[in-house]
Amino acid sequence: MPPVTVIEHLLLHQTELPMATGRFTRLLNELILSAKIISREVNKAGLVDILGFTGEVNVQGEAVLKLDEFANRVLIHRLERAGVLCAMASEENADLIEIPSAFPAGDYILIFDPLDGSSNVEGNVSIGTIFSIHRRKSPEGKNVILDDVLQIGANQVAAGYFVYGSSTMMVYTAGRGAHGFTLDPSVGEFLLSHPDIKIPELGKIYSVNESYWNYWDEPTRKTVSYFKSPNNERGQPYNSRYIGSLVADFHRNLLTGGIFMYPADSREPKKIRGKLRLMYEAAPLAMIIEAAGGMATDGKMRILDIEPQELHQRVPLYIGSKKDVQKVIEFYQTTS
Ligand code: AHG
Ligand code: MN
Ligand code: MN
Repeated sequence: MPPVTVIEHLLLHQTELPMATGRFTRLLNELILSAKIISREVNKAGLVDILGFTGEVNVQGEAVLKLDEFANRVLIHRLERAGVLCAMASEENADLIEIPSAFPAGDYILIFDPLDGSSNVEGNVSIGTIFSIHRRKSPEGKNVILDDVLQIGANQVAAGYFVYGSSTMMVYTAGRGAHGFTLDPSVGEFLLSHPDIKIPELGKIYSVNESYWNYWDEPTRKTVSYFKSPNNERGQPYNSRYIGSLVADFHRNLLTGGIFMYPADSREPKKIRGKLRLMYEAAPLAMIIEAAGGMATDGKMRILDIEPQELHQRVPLYIGSKKDVQKVIEFYQTTS
């Protein structure tokens, strides 16, 4: 089969979608170029002095890694001048990122985690970039308001991630299937490698940081015990696989089948709702997993139906194979 690029695939398979317009393809192209630049830096991180910390602390209260800041700057620089956005939001920026008036504006909104799993950079573990694309609700020409950005995940026009691992891959959905592309460095293009990904309905992996066992609620403990026990639908314990890099854990489970969990944690006030953020981690991955036939919940609600209250809102996340996520929902429903 001749190699198919992301844009060819978009135009071939999704032309009837309203966003297969020049502006959407321009947006995807700028995301792709940003990822290639980030991938190059990630792959040489061990060689040049971009490891380590910037000395700043981000809105999450976390020390900002130079690579976080680098990835953030690349995305903002490339996308603000692309003429397709009216606003951006990033894990690394407390507030909305406005498009400078010097550049033409569009009606898309990009929300992103510039570098996910960055605490793993030192250990040379796969990390990623996650993005979510909405269309503004307020009329063009007016200033973008937070209400334009704080939309439910079900409104996303598209969502995806890049994973910088043994190869650099892009997985995205524009609402019709989830598709994977692998970067061929010799031509500098992401080429279709995983068309129409479907996650197995019953998984064989559970991914969770079990060191927080003592801080979980009862339904979560029952869920993890279920996956560890031989008395489950598989008739044998699931494999435990946890990299500590959401994009890497999610990507492996998407392809092999399984469930990733980051439960709420009663210990720390800021993690009482879990650690992962709704707008640029849970919601985009939830759009992808549903396009691949899987599910994503906070234990009680479909992730894509959660009404965001604020930009960096955290949510508990259970995401992956349909039957495994349904088990979590069942434990929440049956545990008083
Ligand atoms: P980020 O690097 O964007 O802050 O995300 C880190 C997240 C996610 O990648 C991963 O699943 C989770 O942190 C791991 O958290 P624990 O170390 O608490 O397990
Ligand atoms: Mn992250
Ligand atoms: Mn991050």
